[in-house]
Amino acid sequence: MRNLIEPDIIQRRVHDLGAELTSQYEGRPLTVVGVLTGCMLFLADLVRAISVPHRIGVVHASSYRGPTTERGDLRVDTTLLTDVRDRDVLIVDDIFDTGQTLKRLVSSLQSAGARSVHTAVLLVKEGRSEVDIAPDHHCFQIPDVFVVGYGLDYNDDYRHLPFIAALDESDL
Ligand code: IMP
Ligand code: MG
Repeated sequence: MRNLIEPDIIQRRVHDLGAELTSQYEGRPLTVVGVLTGCMLFLADLVRAISVPHRIGVVHASSYRGPTTERGDLRVDTTLLTDVRDRDVLIVDDIFDTGQTLKRLVSSLQSAGARSVHTAVLLVKEGRSEVDIAPDHHCFQIPDVFVVGYGLDYNDDYRHLPFIAALDESDL
């Protein structure tokens, strides 16, 4: 495992993003919608850095992963979501890889009646996008490597790490 981004760098960047979102959403009915499970650490730090009143909601997205890191069927579950009708929604996810997950989530939040839907991700993986949208906000751009930590997992391990690390081919 190779450390890529240290905790203090993550914290500083997340706070800057929080400040940017604070001025953007001033006076608007904001609901921050985290995408479980990978968003948990990022969401918890980001909402504490957004100093305008807002609601927090969650949805669940998963794509079956076997022993490899190949993506399988994408599933989006919105049964835990609070009412977002006429609210300004900010979707918060861990990583924009192919972008399929975020693209699907944007349209399901629009269908749920949100007044606006914007997106913020912790990481963007370079050169992987398969979709015609890009996240509105991101904290870091990373090369095409498999990363874990600060919410991101490999087969559900490593999410608790306070830093972001790359796994080597031999770890996968
Ligand atoms: P996308 O739909 O291809 O953008 O995939 C997004 C989802 O795939 C993320 O929310 C993660 O759960 C997972 N994912 C993609 N790349 C990585 C990675 O490098 N480490 C851990 N999870 C990843
Ligand atoms: Mg995920």
